[in-house]
Amino acid sequence: VIDNSLGIIKASLKLNNIETKISIEEDVNMYIYVSELKQVLVNIIKNAKDAIIERNIENGWIHIEFKVDKHHYIINIEDNAGGIEKEYINQVFDPYFSTKSKNGTGLGLYMSKMIIDEHFNGLLVVKNSENGAKFSIKIKK
Ligand SMILES: Nc1ncnc2c1ncn2[C@@H]1O[C@H](COP(=O)(O)OP(=O)(O)O)[C@@H](O)[C@H]1O
Ligand SMILES: [Mg+2]
Repeated sequence: VIDNSLGIIKASLKLNNIETKISIEEDVNMYIYVSELKQVLVNIIKNAKDAIIERNIENGWIHIEFKVDKHHYIINIEDNAGGIEKEYINQVFDPYFSTKSKNGTGLGLYMSKMIIDEHFNGLLVVKNSENGAKFSIKIKK
């Protein structure tokens, strides 16, 4: 699913010299809504790409990590675009919140959170890492 999601926007990532890395701790079979998870991943990856381009990050990268713990599947998506400004990090999941004056709908993360929370009985959160934004999807096994 991760490969597939990256594939959807591979061309524009390549065009902008953005490196991607996937690390899978353990390959597992999940019984999930594939297209919905794909939609969420594409939203998050696109936002990372937008941030890297908008801020003119030279060696932009997006790293995706899949892990499993006792009760959850965890997907982390981190970029090196510098993160989300503190003053609105709590608003990024609100409907219509966007800092992209014309090109943003502000619905991507709102919908993503709804999908993860309601259809996957999971959690979608974000924090700033030392590199940029780090989104974390946690799905109950
Ligand atoms: N990886 C990221 N780095 C920095 N800011 C981000 C990142 N992802 C999301 N954001 C912020 O969250 C806002 C909301 O994202 P989203 O709901 O996808 O709406 P949109 O992409 O249409 O603006 C973005 O406008 C941006 O300000
Ligand atoms: Mg978006």
